[in-house]
Amino acid sequence: MIMEPETSCFAFMFITILLMNLYVGVLSADKYSRDEFPADFVFGAATSAYQVEGVAKEDGRTPSIWDTFAHAGYAYGANGDVACDEYHKYKEDVRLMVETGLDAYRFSISWSRLIPNGRGPLNPKGLQYYNNLINELIINGIQPHVTLHNYDLPQALEDEYGGWLGRDIIEDFTNYADACFREFGDRVLYWTTVNEPNVFAIGGYDQGITPPQRCSPPFCVTNSTRGNSTYEPYLVVHHILLAHSSAARLYRIKYRDNQHGFIGISVYTFGCIPQTNTEKDRVATQRVRDFFLGWIVEPLVYGDYPISMRTNAGARIPTFTDRESELVKGSYDFIGVIHYININVTDNADILNNKLRDFNVDMAAKIIYGREFYSDEEYPVTPLGLQQELNKFKLLYGNPPLFIYENGQRTARNSTLHDVSRVKYLHGYIGGVLDALRNGANVKGYFVWSFLDVFELLSGYKSSFGLYYVDEDDPELKRYPKLSAKWYMQFLRGRSTSIVGAIELNKDPSLVSVGHLFH
Ligand SMILES: *[C@@H]1O[C@H](CO)[C@@H](O)[C@H](O)[C@H]1NC(C)=O
Ligand SMILES: *[C@@H]1O[C@H](CO)[C@@H](O)[C@H](O)[C@H]1NC(C)=O
Ligand SMILES: *[C@@H]1O[C@H](CO)[C@@H](O)[C@H](O)[C@H]1NC(C)=O
Ligand SMILES: *[C@@H]1O[C@H](CO)[C@@H](O)[C@H](O)[C@H]1NC(C)=O
Repeated sequence: MIMEPETSCFAFMFITILLMNLYVGVLSADKYSRDEFPADFVFGAATSAYQVEGVAKEDGRTPSIWDTFAHAGYAYGANGDVACDEYHKYKEDVRLMVETGLDAYRFSISWSRLIPNGRGPLNPKGLQYYNNLINELIINGIQPHVTLHNYDLPQALEDEYGGWLGRDIIEDFTNYADACFREFGDRVLYWTTVNEPNVFAIGGYDQGITPPQRCSPPFCVTNSTRGNSTYEPYLVVHHILLAHSSAARLYRIKYRDNQHGFIGISVYTFGCIPQTNTEKDRVATQRVRDFFLGWIVEPLVYGDYPISMRTNAGARIPTFTDRESELVKGSYDFIGVIHYININVTDNADILNNKLRDFNVDMAAKIIYGREFYSDEEYPVTPLGLQQELNKFKLLYGNPPLFIYENGQRTARNSTLHDVSRVKYLHGYIGGVLDALRNGANVKGYFVWSFLDVFELLSGYKSSFGLYYVDEDDPELKRYPKLSAKWYMQFLRGRSTSIVGAIELNKDPSLVSVGHLFH
């Protein structure tokens, strides 16, 4: 059961609507074409700086907390020192984007490349690189969507005042954003301040599994014992929201009239499904949605954290002053949605008796992940979960403009170029987005994660999401299109697409000819 009838007397109506949705879902997800989307809907693909650029220690760049994390061995000993070398190969990559037919490319700026150590003068080589990349995109008609912070805070600021734990971050981030708007804002219209602050805070400050690996027992998933899982995740998100709103305010005052761009933030979402159709599990499911999505979105839309969070975390969740609340409220033009999988949720209110508390305890729900969450297994194709979350934006958060900024399928990196499971996933989810649009969702674009096989946060080069395979054993780091790239290409050229068509594509001789890569 996906929808949640509010009262039993409306149950029949809801079930009817649900069946209609499923019916439409089956029809459109089976076969659809690009021209069924609004004319101004953009299709793109995404990467981020540390995951593709390489040249991490040269041309003036200083380390970020992600460099530190990777070099401590947390991504199977791999790191982004070379990655895809997009720093040198950006022209080739933009050419591939053109061949693929992308309208837009989502990438991020490395703060410590543009402003080494986080504060002070710009690095001329960093400035040149981003100008080159942006110009190359623009002359090829590809819209840049730029993120300012993607897990890669300058290590110098982490060392100086604890990075996102310190209030100084608000001013430093605003100055960094100011430099980006000033230098690139004549060509960049879509700015995301911070990528998925919810996962950044949970991974980096509660469980200690992502940069900057902070946590406290018993909540640590890694050995790290610096930190405070009870308190820090809430503080970090608070500072991110304040820094975001400060940057958004600056843009509106200083740049918007001339540059006409848009500011957003992106948020990680699960499709949240009650484990059973009981009141307890349905309430717990909404609580999980509050803790993941509402944590970021409610301050932006309503000026404060969700009631369930304030109740359960009490004084450990910071409070906004009236002035801060006003600044945060409305400080967005769009929200970026990051989505891969669904979870089941069951009530776990008893856990609130625990003496030691963290985000997961406060949430008072047990999340039941599919096997794929803990393994390298491929993701199931369950786009109704995404449609449901998009519908929640409409029902709960005023239907803001959304970009699906990440969605994609994981496969073993060196398995095959014939990535049928990725084609099935993209086909299913893009069809799901079409259904959501027809149901009134305010989605403006869709970006596949990822354009290339990148250096992944947790799995390094072991698993991948790319439309293009990058041969890491080849000194030239040659890119090869996968079946999914060919499928996306055909879809973007306006061909009507179905799974049957994808299987036909699978016989494409250009894919067979690079079969030697995998034996
Ligand atoms: C945790 O510590 C143990 C013992 O010091 C070590 O063998 C193990 O590799 C560490 N694990 C991680 C993820 O660092
Ligand atoms: C975490 O921070 C809170 C609030 O400052 C404090 O009460 C608690 O003792 C700290 N816990 C640890 C493990 O340091
Ligand atoms: C989640 O619940 C659905 C039924 O609502 C079930 O089909 C699915 O297997 C469950 N998933 C997990 C991971 O338990
Ligand atoms: C793929 O990579 C894994 C390590 O990431 C390795 O164990 C495996 O042998 C590789 N398979 C092929 C076909 O190269």
